[in-house]
Amino acid sequence: MSLLLNRNTFGNAANKGNVLSKEEANQLLNDWVKNDKLKLHMKQVSHLLKTWAAEKEQLNEEDQWRWEMAGLLHDADWDQWPETHCKKIIEELESRNVDPEIIHAIASHGPNHFGVEPETKMDKMLYAFDELSGLIHAYSLMRPTGYDGMERKGVKKRLKEKYFAANVSREEIQDASNRASVPLDDLIQFIVEHQKDAKI
Ligand SMILES: [Fe+2]
Repeated sequence: MSLLLNRNTFGNAANKGNVLSKEEANQLLNDWVKNDKLKLHMKQVSHLLKTWAAEKEQLNEEDQWRWEMAGLLHDADWDQWPETHCKKIIEELESRNVDPEIIHAIASHGPNHFGVEPETKMDKMLYAFDELSGLIHAYSLMRPTGYDGMERKGVKKRLKEKYFAANVSREEIQDASNRASVPLDDLIQFIVEHQKDAKI
């Protein structure tokens, strides 16, 4: 099954700055995603992106929401339409005249799968958080205290165990860190500190 998008431009430049409201985005998420594990994953990635945009990029609230919205909807079509994953949500957001940069971030969140290169910092951070966030969440579920007391070195141990969260590609995690120019240690630290605050 190929998920290649075979295109490189997304949305319409005239829609720059257009976003869904928080209510509209959450409605779409709840309508399309029935799987609570997947919904939590998107809430976690969106929370990380919003927090990163605010703390590390010093972006204003409008831009923080653009980053958050990309995270919130990046896998919205995975639950019901895995064979057209990414294509379906892109077309939905295009039909709703959403900012092309948000659509591009979603289109490039898995360059090895969708064939679209992450370009902006938002693109790169979505790619950087996506898989690593999942691995760290899996680690929290096997710890009696969850995220409490979690340390970076524990995460790094799990990363080296190839049978732990075996479906999470270690190559992609390193590739994403390189492309974002954010060291893996910093990404892990940020996720360990902030991911616990995301709830469905
Ligand atoms: Fe994801």
